[in-house]
Amino acid sequence: MESKITAIAVYTPEKRINNAYFQQFIETNDEWIVSRTGIRERRFASETQFTSDLCIQAVHNLLAENKNISLEGVDFIIVSTTTADQVMPNTASQIQNAFNIQNCGCLDIMAACAGFVYGLVLAKGMIAAGTHKKILVFGAETLSKFTDFKDRTSCILFGDGAGMALVEPSDKAKIFNAVTGSDGGHGKDLYLSQNNSIVNGEHIEANGKIHQNGKVVFKWAIQTVSGKINELLAKNAMQLEDLDWIILHSANMRIIEGVAGEINYPIEKMLSSIEYCGNTSSASIPLAWDIARKAGKIKPGQKILMLGFGGGLTFAGVIIEV
Ligand code: UT7
Repeated sequence: MESKITAIAVYTPEKRINNAYFQQFIETNDEWIVSRTGIRERRFASETQFTSDLCIQAVHNLLAENKNISLEGVDFIIVSTTTADQVMPNTASQIQNAFNIQNCGCLDIMAACAGFVYGLVLAKGMIAAGTHKKILVFGAETLSKFTDFKDRTSCILFGDGAGMALVEPSDKAKIFNAVTGSDGGHGKDLYLSQNNSIVNGEHIEANGKIHQNGKVVFKWAIQTVSGKINELLAKNAMQLEDLDWIILHSANMRIIEGVAGEINYPIEKMLSSIEYCGNTSSASIPLAWDIARKAGKIKPGQKILMLGFGGGLTFAGVIIEV
């Protein structure tokens, strides 16, 4: 059984945080942030708003925007997040409960910024296996709750948001072959220190904050992503010209520009959510898709290559037809 994404929806919290906000507590400025990252603004969840709340709002938006869609028959919920409300119970179960969806598998997955694409790959496989028919795949984060506001190289990057896709069976394949992988040797270059533990042979002290070796991840991202785009095209017997859009994880506009340069692809066809959402990890790809969709850019029948990369250092890419 083939599959397709039949709808997407998003939610971003009300609270807008501009670049000047950070000048209250770190030495920085709008010019540095815009020129080094492309970020002008990001959204922060309120103190009482958690990742599951953002997902639930995204579902309300899905239903409001698509009168023909109901949650009846939803049989699996996958939530990609590194900032779950709690490790247990999982975020997916909170969504299940909010909408009283019965007989529905509930799973959180952790693959950081690659997680939304990982979720699509899982959903495609479950539909292909014939075991499930109506799957909600979320990418959602409240990174602001885990941000170290004393670290000026990372705190200016992160934002909160949720995006989701409804994945259902299709007569014609519309979610094509994927690439997935990880460079676990780089685990220590980007991590969220939840527990005292050892990663890559080094001790990690729990402080509940995100730590990033920005320069190393930046270089790794450009090289890895460029290579994986070519691998993904080859796996689908496609050329760059067959694509209408590329959506990379919105980590930094300079990474998107760097990859566009490496693969020689027009930057106008690279969609992102970086400018007004910042780096929202798992949520960044569906947010970028939604921004472009609402701007009237994405049309039925078009092909989009999506590729996420981040903590792990994980990566996952897939080509879909809208
Ligand atoms: O989402 C998962 C994947 N994540 C990524 O892909 C992130 C990859 N990394 C990056 O996006 C970039 O490395 C950062 C945005 C994190 C940092 O940008 P950079 O161009 O690599 O800056 P840098 O760390 O090399 O710092 C350059 C200078 C330094 O000053 P000196 O040593 O040259 O005097 C920093 O101290 O910029 C300084 N700096 C800042 N200045 C003003 C660092 N952060 C700031 C800041 N405001 N917020």
